[in-house]
Amino acid sequence: MVLCGAAGNKFLFSNENKLVTAWWPSSVEKIFPTSLQTSTKVESMKMRKLLPGFLKPEALQKYVGIMDSIAKKHLETSWDCKNEVMVFPLAKEYTFAVACRLFLSIEDPKHIAKFSHPFHFLAAGVISIPINLPGTPFNRAIKAAEMIRKELLEIIKQRKKEMMEKKLCPKHDILSHMLTTTDENGGSMTENDIADKIIGLLIGGHDTASAAITFVMKYLAELPDVYNEVLKEQVAVSNTKQRGELLNWEDLQKMKYSWNVASEVMRLAPPLQGNFREAITDFTYAGFSIPKGWKLYWSANSTHKNPEYFPEPEKFDPLRFEENGPIPYTYVPFGGGPRMCPGKEYARLEILVFIYNVVRKFKWEKILPSENIIVDPMPMPAKGLPIRLHPH
Ligand code: HEM
Repeated sequence: MVLCGAAGNKFLFSNENKLVTAWWPSSVEKIFPTSLQTSTKVESMKMRKLLPGFLKPEALQKYVGIMDSIAKKHLETSWDCKNEVMVFPLAKEYTFAVACRLFLSIEDPKHIAKFSHPFHFLAAGVISIPINLPGTPFNRAIKAAEMIRKELLEIIKQRKKEMMEKKLCPKHDILSHMLTTTDENGGSMTENDIADKIIGLLIGGHDTASAAITFVMKYLAELPDVYNEVLKEQVAVSNTKQRGELLNWEDLQKMKYSWNVASEVMRLAPPLQGNFREAITDFTYAGFSIPKGWKLYWSANSTHKNPEYFPEPEKFDPLRFEENGPIPYTYVPFGGGPRMCPGKEYARLEILVFIYNVVRKFKWEKILPSENIIVDPMPMPAKGLPIRLHPH
């Protein structure tokens, strides 16, 4: 059953674990074997317990400067001195570098590249028809997950050794956090379990944010007035900084217009178009009987395009997010209720830091003015959004 609209979103989000619970297609369970030992439900509860330590505000504040230095380095190496670039793969490169640094403390570009290649196949096959035959996206995703898991297990072993020898203080990144966190019975997570959790976070955390960044670049190319406003705001922030000084938490609070722009981008092109739930009991909704075991899907995409909530829904208008913004359950790029995306604030920082750096360096134009958008399962420009750069 597909629910489109604020009432359906509210119903699903507020009945989590009462009438419905999270559900993933069987391809996900098969690619992440640790979830077969329990269930994706149990695994995602474990994940939710782990994340606050890593994503709490004090921790996020420390990430801003790190993200800024990664963005600067990324633009220097992959954008400067180029006339044309392909945005989508580069946005993925940036968000993947941030994730490797903050989740695993990996900074070496060669090491990052070793990971990022199989990730492409993994992300493409996670939600696919689960036919495990050579050449299918599902088969490629399973092989990629094995390759990444092997690499991660080596990193985990090495980290354990370093921690035993007290070379690193714990809670240094999410990996140490996972290695030192115990459950209510004092048990620790297994190495395989940690590897799968990190793979899940890398998929959830970098593909979504890179899709958002790509669409920010697309709309800023198409809308010069919006670009000029964003640039004005970002130059005002940079004027308060010393030469070479990195961004901090307070700076990001001043980027209100830029965040309204990113929010409007995620209204029109939500990176996750919706998600599944499973009925855990028989119930009735809007006069329909839903039997236990049925799958339900909430849809961000259709909610965001409803003219009742967003007049002239196809029009790009960041002012919709001024003051109180959209009414509850009408704007749901990060979901809602107890399962709302725990990485929302992390994503906000990473997107704003990128905007700050890119707009102050370049103006750009689309090379393919009418490039199609495909959704597989995330929206993306069909050719990766090639652009021509005009440095300031
Ligand atoms: C623009 C970027 C992002 C978008 C649009 C996004 C969106 C979402 C959405 C819609 C959900 C599903 C909620 C549901 O089923 O009700 C979700 C779940 C999740 N997200 Fe994000 N996300 C983003 C970035 C991130 C980042 C950066 C991280 C990690 C650092 C992250 C970690 C997670 C996790 C772990 C879940 C599963 C939560 C659970 O099962 O309870 N996300 N995200």
